[in-house]
Amino acid sequence: MSKPRIEALDGDITRLAVDAIVNAANSSLLGGGGVDGAIHRAAGPDLLAECRTLGGCPTGEARITGGYRLPARHVIHTVGPVWRGGDAGEPELLASCYRNSLALARAHRVRTIAFPAISCGVYGYPVEHAVTIAVGAVRASVAECEEIDRVIFVCFGAAMLGAYQGALRGI
Ligand code: AR6
Repeated sequence: MSKPRIEALDGDITRLAVDAIVNAANSSLLGGGGVDGAIHRAAGPDLLAECRTLGGCPTGEARITGGYRLPARHVIHTVGPVWRGGDAGEPELLASCYRNSLALARAHRVRTIAFPAISCGVYGYPVEHAVTIAVGAVRASVAECEEIDRVIFVCFGAAMLGAYQGALRGI
């Protein structure tokens, strides 16, 4: 059994021709700023139309849609926690985003998937803690998993890339 490749890349997630990209959405699933805004702009209005049919998504859960004009076949929308100091269940909710996104991916025969740094922008999660949770949750979810070939952590900028590379080396 070959282990899935987990790597970090610097770049724009909307440009990746993978089976699924993950969106760091809010619970309305009706768009926003940051990576959410970039994904909706690149996918076109049909993505918003499909999102309207979903009725939102609670924090820590995930929903799947088509990718429309994106090179990716699917978008998996997950809602990260807003950072409130760390004692409001944020670590478990953030780990759930990664776990639930990968479970949905597997159910839809996704083999290659790219994640942004969920909660690390507007939602204010401290990057060093968030990347440790992201890498740990992904490693645990895809351990000895034959369905997923490749997981990419897409980093916006060199500082984020360095944080992920450190976390990937450290475990
Ligand atoms: N490709 C990859 N990463 C990106 C891109 C991109 N095109 N654009 C931004 N990032 P954020 P959150 C990085 O704020 O903290 C939205 O309004 C960004 O630098 O997008 O989970 C939603 O609707 C950061 O490292 O997501 C919600 O209301 C990371 O993506 C709220 O923001 C996540 O930053 C969610 O906040």
